[in-house]
Amino acid sequence: MIDNNKVVDLLREIPDPSTGKDIVTGRRISNLRVEGNNILFTLMANTMDEKTKAQLNSNIYAKLKNEYPDAEIHIHMNRVSNQELKDLGGSLPQIKNIIAVASGKGGVGKSTISVNTAIALSQMGYRVGLIDADLYGPSIPTMLGLKGQRPGVKKVYGKDKLIPIEKYGIHTMSIGFIVDEEQAVILRGPRLSGVIKQFITETIWPELDYLVVDLPPGTGDIQLTLVQTVPVTGGLIVTTPQDVAIADAVKAMNMFMMDNIKIPIIGVVENMSWFTPAELPDSQYFIFGKGGGQKLVDKSRSCLIAQVPLVQGLRESGDSGIPAAYDKEHPLYTTFMEMAQKLAQEVSKRNQNMAPTKQVQLKT
Ligand SMILES: Nc1ncnc2c1ncn2[C@@H]1O[C@H](COP(=O)(O)OP(=O)(O)OP(=O)(O)O)[C@@H](O)[C@H]1O
Ligand SMILES: [Mg+2]
Repeated sequence: MIDNNKVVDLLREIPDPSTGKDIVTGRRISNLRVEGNNILFTLMANTMDEKTKAQLNSNIYAKLKNEYPDAEIHIHMNRVSNQELKDLGGSLPQIKNIIAVASGKGGVGKSTISVNTAIALSQMGYRVGLIDADLYGPSIPTMLGLKGQRPGVKKVYGKDKLIPIEKYGIHTMSIGFIVDEEQAVILRGPRLSGVIKQFITETIWPELDYLVVDLPPGTGDIQLTLVQTVPVTGGLIVTTPQDVAIADAVKAMNMFMMDNIKIPIIGVVENMSWFTPAELPDSQYFIFGKGGGQKLVDKSRSCLIAQVPLVQGLRESGDSGIPAAYDKEHPLYTTFMEMAQKLAQEVSKRNQNMAPTKQVQLKT
């Protein structure tokens, strides 16, 4: 007597060649049936090369035959096109939402906002990953207190896959874990794209509700590679309030909204909105002017996710590797928790009202 549940358990022991997770979690198996002595199912395998496909097939046979030597095993290879599979979630079907954090200008606080958003979402109970896609100047290792750490490596069907590093409840990958920061700057064009693809397709990401991607400033190779490698759920734009920052931020925002990219803007975070000295916690000095975040919101018809004041303790928490969102005593703890709540609300609205993003196909 062949037990359906037992078959599923056996299949769970077989790693998925693209993610390293098991093929059941990786949603490779569908229409599983047991009829008498027959085990039948569909295997979604058409994004794999022939060799990997054959190897996976024989692993499945061996595993099932070992438990049920007399069973007849019928594996139906699915006929979904590569494009359809990509639309179903591309190379990261186990990840529900991918949020790209972008800005026009450098130094406006993208990395600070990315780290604290990721941690605040995880404090709320979501499963969260964070990619440091700033290959020119990775700052996530410092901000998470992970400098000098190396990611794990696991062989899956003969290929080395990276294992993200876990800290403060989030899973993270950065070029800073692979090369020394000083060396990162020598990466150029195709190598940059290669590393971004590696962080997405050759990294074993667990099941996640949110993957936050911290981008470098502007609209370059890294941004374009990201949107072509994975369907990005939405963009989160970070800006400071002054006009020069806005002009650049509009360019970054427009890239997402271009006709052939079509990634919705989830919202805007205005950072360094005002300065509040520690000794005068109730006063606000508008050092960089006012209203910039709202201007971007109007242009993108999105939502002001948060205004984050300039607080010396935030710079300090970034440098010390203990993010504000992980420290209940930090003056910005509540600001960041509210920011993450608002973001989650806007993402769920987006998912209710709009079709999933399609992976961008750019003609080059
Ligand atoms: N609201 C804030 N209050 C105080 N310091 C801040 C604030 N936001 C960011 N900083 C500090 O400003 C510096 C730049 O921030 P961050 O690295 O997050 O910017 P970025 O946009 O990611 O920069 P880059 O373009 O270089 O990647 C950091 O030292 C950070 O700690
Ligand atoms: Mg940064």
